[in-house]
Amino acid sequence: MDKHEVTMEKIVSLCKRRGFVFQSSEIYGGQSGAWDYGPLGIELKKNIQNAWWKEMTQLHDNIVGLDAAILMHPRVWEASGHVANFSDPLVDCKQCKMRYRADNMDQDALAAKKCPACGGELTEPRAFNLMFKTHIGPAEDTASVIYLRPETAQGIYVNYKNIIQSNRMKIPFGIAQVGKAFRNEIVTKNFIFRTCEFEQMEMQFFVKPGDDDKFFEYWREQRWNFYKKHGVNMDKMRWYHHEKLAHYAKDAYDIEYEFPMGFSELEGIHNRTDFDLSRHTEYSGKDMQYIDQDNGNEKYIPYIIETSAGLTRNLLMFLCDAYAEEKVADKGNDDDYRTVLHFHPKIAPVTVAILPLMKKDGLAELAKEIQNELKDDFVTDYDQSGAIGKRYRRQDEIGTPFCVTVDYDSKNDKTVTLRFRDSMEQVRVPIAELSNRIRQEIKNYTRTF
Ligand code: GAP
Repeated sequence: MDKHEVTMEKIVSLCKRRGFVFQSSEIYGGQSGAWDYGPLGIELKKNIQNAWWKEMTQLHDNIVGLDAAILMHPRVWEASGHVANFSDPLVDCKQCKMRYRADNMDQDALAAKKCPACGGELTEPRAFNLMFKTHIGPAEDTASVIYLRPETAQGIYVNYKNIIQSNRMKIPFGIAQVGKAFRNEIVTKNFIFRTCEFEQMEMQFFVKPGDDDKFFEYWREQRWNFYKKHGVNMDKMRWYHHEKLAHYAKDAYDIEYEFPMGFSELEGIHNRTDFDLSRHTEYSGKDMQYIDQDNGNEKYIPYIIETSAGLTRNLLMFLCDAYAEEKVADKGNDDDYRTVLHFHPKIAPVTVAILPLMKKDGLAELAKEIQNELKDDFVTDYDQSGAIGKRYRRQDEIGTPFCVTVDYDSKNDKTVTLRFRDSMEQVRVPIAELSNRIRQEIKNYTRTF
């Protein structure tokens, strides 16, 4: 393997070094399945979330937002099928105590009941429910059981009638939501790929039965184009068509991304039929039918097309996709290479860095003035320490698409150097035009590497 290829170890190390992602409770030895997002991580996560939110709610007139509670009535999870069905088959090694998901492990080892790690005897597979269960109120009895939601989708279904009534929505329409979800995953590995606490970006689109296939295709195309639009290398994306379907689905595709450990699911697009709303009708006793007032008050339970993406998994994807080690000099040492994150400028955690060539002679003051001008429009960073080349490298490593360098000429002719991360080109720009120029560059950005 090329030593400059992206690996998960490099991503993990960069994330810690530059403040994207830290291990949860690190000083106590770490909490598996949970991660903390540092100053750059939260900016990156917010930008991905905002891009998705804009795509859904601002660019689609018939999609509105929702922020439902994590804690829901326990009957919700009976109706959804999660209490009965949301489980993974678990096997343990009696000898070394390794734990495996039977569906993911070496099937020959499973058939032979031999542990792939030590050869010891494996237990029979047993269903292990992935929902975190806890209690609400002072009594820890069965009546007080409550679950942490394993998906955000159900919060949308139980509010669908409220939203029709309060916002006068007409089918076809969608409801978008971003929020935390929790699953007691048996195997959490590959950094933030699969965790017990994570975030989802889900949109449920309500359609008339019979229109579902058409909208299913529409949303597949929309979701594919979202990633393309945000600068992802589409050669690393592919479709996976599910043959074995979840209990609620009529059809399902995943968008898979080629992570360093191989192609894995990034987002699912599901035709959930009328399963969820029919079940909530049955379990709540409330009529979940839609009344089509434009069509002689025709009543029906809508079909639902779901687009379900992991926000935290998207963050990992954007990091892996942006990461590159590029040869930029020929001195024969490690300095010949720069580590760079080629984020789309709308996704990058910092948009502009302002760098005075020197601290003295009024350059720092002018640079601060420029930063104060720009910070109303962009997330900015200011760095005055070290050689300018080193400072460019530091910004490349966190994916800052634009650097503004303030030098002695800037004081006289009121121009600065604008340096582009991807091409490393530099152009002279009047300070007064900087904000507009950067805005234009963001608008016209295309992936060129
Ligand atoms: N509402 C449908 C649903 O939740 P899913 O395929 O179980 O479907 C959707 O999850 C997406 O949520 C996945 O494609 C993935 O991006 C993300 N996801 C699921 N489990 C996850 C976990 N344990 N850690 C991080 N992301 C996860």
